Amino acid sequence: MIPVNEPLLNGNELKYVSECVKTGWISSAGKFITEFEENWAAYCGMKHGIAVCNGTIALELAVEALGFPRESEIILPSFTIISCAQAITKSGCVPVVVDCEPDTWCMDVSQVEKAITAKTKAIMPVHIYGHPVDMDPIMGLAEKHGLIIIEDAAEVHGAEYKGKKCGGIGHVSCFSFFANKIIATGEGGMVLTDDEMLAEKLRSYRNLCFQDKQRFLHEEIGHNYRFTNVQAAIGLAQLERIEETVERKRAMARKYTSGLRELPIRLPVERPWAKNVYWMYGLVIDEKIGLDAKELAKRLRTAGVETRPFFLGIHEQPVFKKMGFFKDVSLPVTERIARQGLYLPSGQAITDEQIDYVIEQVRRELLRGT
Ligand SMILES: Cc1ncc(COP(=O)(O)O)c(C=O)c1O
Repeated sequence: MIPVNEPLLNGNELKYVSECVKTGWISSAGKFITEFEENWAAYCGMKHGIAVCNGTIALELAVEALGFPRESEIILPSFTIISCAQAITKSGCVPVVVDCEPDTWCMDVSQVEKAITAKTKAIMPVHIYGHPVDMDPIMGLAEKHGLIIIEDAAEVHGAEYKGKKCGGIGHVSCFSFFANKIIATGEGGMVLTDDEMLAEKLRSYRNLCFQDKQRFLHEEIGHNYRFTNVQAAIGLAQLERIEETVERKRAMARKYTSGLRELPIRLPVERPWAKNVYWMYGLVIDEKIGLDAKELAKRLRTAGVETRPFFLGIHEQPVFKKMGFFKDVSLPVTERIARQGLYLPSGQAITDEQIDYVIEQVRRELLRGT
């Protein structure tokens, strides 16, 4: 089976992890954590980095620390992972969803202003599968309506919008370093911001609101959302070769794109202002051929190719329906690509021969049709 993702740990990972083991710095203090936070923040063009245990928590911590009043509305794309919406509901806020674009699969920014009400406090753009959201209109709306922008950059490490790194544009940005990400630490995440006071609050909430002056005196309820020195050691080693990794991802995408041309499928795009890192190489099958992503995935699995379906939109999630959200919401692009889209093996360890094999199998199945 060609796995949908396989991490590549062939740099200084083992050396740095061994250093943690030899020195005993295996927990949430140690030099690699600070170094990783500082280097990742600097790479993305932000001042402060607060490493946490995963990307879901990075989002939850960011929304919590921003301290919006209950019932505040936060606008996000429906086409994203549940982590984004649950970060909003767990803080007592209301998720308001918009549709995505049919080609970049990112939030359709032309729909955002219509969704703004007197209760709106923030917008959460989510860069999808390696391609940036069109951020200028979002930042314009933030300025015009006094809103906070929480960028979810989990899927776009190294991607750029008009020459700026994704995750370095909004007021706060969140990352995941799960094993399938471009920088992979196993589990892990980070929040970035330029706002010093917010950074302090994030650090405090991450670590049970212990206080410097009197450690076991607590003014607020915090969490244990800590990241470890061992994870940071892996992250730093990965960060040392991020440019190489991004180039490999882009080469992988070029190979897929040239092999999958002229089929009844939509392939990833790259807007003129974007640097797409093709975190996962997705495709959307034309409905006209009567084949959906579930069936294609089943056939590819039989041929030894693992895939993943696209996200099911937030507005279609039973859990949110039960909570009373999204009663009359219908978002045609999100609903269609959720059923017609999947992504192909895209991990860093994939070989050119494996990509050729995947292309051959996809071509065969699509030409065979239903
Ligand atoms: C856009 C996005 N945000 C957040 C997350 C959550 O990250 P984690 O799996 O580290 O909790 C993911 C995970 O893949 C993601 O794709």
